[in-house]
Amino acid sequence: MRQKSQTVHEDAERKLKTVDYDLCKYRCLLTKKKFIGRGLRYLYLFKNLICIGKVSLYFEIFKSPYVQIPERQFRINSELRIKWTYSKTKLNSIIFQVSGQQYEYHGTNEQLRELKQKFALYVFQVQIQDEYSAESVLGRGSYATVLELTNLFTKKQYAAKCIDQQRINEKKNGQKQLQQEIETMRILSEQKHDNILLLHELYIGNQNYYLVMEMAKGGSLLSLMKKRQTLFSRSDIKLIMKQLLEGLMFIHHHNIMHRDLKPENILFMNKDLESLVIADFGLAQSVDSHPYTYPKCGTPGFVAPEILEQDSDLARYTVSCDIFSAGVILYVLLIGEPLFEKKDRKEQLELNRKCEINLSKFSSDQLDDLEKDILMKMLSKNPDFRWSADNLLKHKFFVSQDSIEQEVDFYKLNNISILKKQQMPTFSKNPFMQFGKNISLVRDHALTLSLRQRNCTLVMQTNLRFDKSSQEQLITEQVYGMGSFNQQKDEINQTNP
Ligand SMILES: Nc1ncnc2c1ncn2[C@@H]1O[C@H](COP(=O)(O)OP(=O)(O)O)[C@@H](O)[C@H]1O
Ligand SMILES: [Mg+2]
Repeated sequence: MRQKSQTVHEDAERKLKTVDYDLCKYRCLLTKKKFIGRGLRYLYLFKNLICIGKVSLYFEIFKSPYVQIPERQFRINSELRIKWTYSKTKLNSIIFQVSGQQYEYHGTNEQLRELKQKFALYVFQVQIQDEYSAESVLGRGSYATVLELTNLFTKKQYAAKCIDQQRINEKKNGQKQLQQEIETMRILSEQKHDNILLLHELYIGNQNYYLVMEMAKGGSLLSLMKKRQTLFSRSDIKLIMKQLLEGLMFIHHHNIMHRDLKPENILFMNKDLESLVIADFGLAQSVDSHPYTYPKCGTPGFVAPEILEQDSDLARYTVSCDIFSAGVILYVLLIGEPLFEKKDRKEQLELNRKCEINLSKFSSDQLDDLEKDILMKMLSKNPDFRWSADNLLKHKFFVSQDSIEQEVDFYKLNNISILKKQQMPTFSKNPFMQFGKNISLVRDHALTLSLRQRNCTLVMQTNLRFDKSSQEQLITEQVYGMGSFNQQKDEINQTNP
């Protein structure tokens, strides 16, 4: 015990010389219980380090720890754990757990809450059930199950991405990938952008890692597409793509590639289409951190051809791989069919790799010139020819008058009372269905719509209202995924000893 404590101390002394207090991200004063009474301790949070030291006369006079040797120094790594103690609804103390040792410091609820917020994106905390209860399954991806959580104190809802520790440890580079996902979300969450899903806290349980995030109540773009009987209107498509590209621009400015953009990974914070966020940074990678973890990754049908083409672990590509995937999403939204479709996965990947795209087969009713042009700028096989997110946002596609508005004018002229397209509730009623029976009345523009309707492969059998989406998913989960759902839920909801 004594020896361990000394090791930490010596380490602190040695490292102290290299600590630059100007780089400190946050500091506060806590207390430590002593044999008799309590002693004041300062706490400094750095990018990779937490320093804790006694408050000396020098500190009290100059409010600076510069000449002090910290009593403790905790390296922020995957070994460090933080436990909070509570007295009723208030935080009581913070406990650092490292190498089988525990170091406890006390503070007021307000101080500790602030500290929790600062640490939450850096260090794994334990006992998630002290802070949250699990409600339902929000979704499942290729390696995680996402649960809906309620914070026990604020009653606010969150989503927790639950990642099985065993699966991660068995997977080659699994830990590295998880660290990258967390690091990416941390960087993007600290800077904050309206179109990026925010990470809120990190927890670890006996079997799972928990990435507690904001909850996207609107579901995924995929779930919205499945629920519709027709395609989105053009103004809605523009709205979706604008936000997607703005989010991408932000990610790309940080020199990060998402590498797995697809409708499942695009979520909406609420019922409003104007609340798009990019999610799932599980394959995100800095362009500069080379060689890449999983250089050949992504989803068949959405992945950029240069990723499929490379045959070396040392291959490089750039952020423009995401532009390609965003181009496929735009294509699917406009045409209603997958761009590269084959039942056999190998054949689909081959189509995807060859990337022979022929947009001229579409009549101008199906794809107008601006749509074809922007698609070509996103779907170029050569990544160097693809436009950046910044430039795409300046493309005429986003500024041109929507042809659908002209159609509305036509109805107005003919004194037919309909809602303006932009004002229509997007999901509760299908705008196109209203015209269905009178299609012969309708000019070319509306004919476009009827053609699109026929082309749409994303048709759902049911016409569920939007707000039933999570229930619908939940039912599926309960039927098919009972085992692991209960396991995660139990780990979160277990009662405290
Ligand atoms: N913050 C969130 N709010 C609501 N649903 C979410 C949230 N994050 C993920 N989901 C749902 O869970 C699914 C899987 O999450 P994702 O992060 O994509 O996991 P994976 O890395 O395994 O693909 C998503 O497609 C989405 O339906
Ligand atoms: Mg996913």
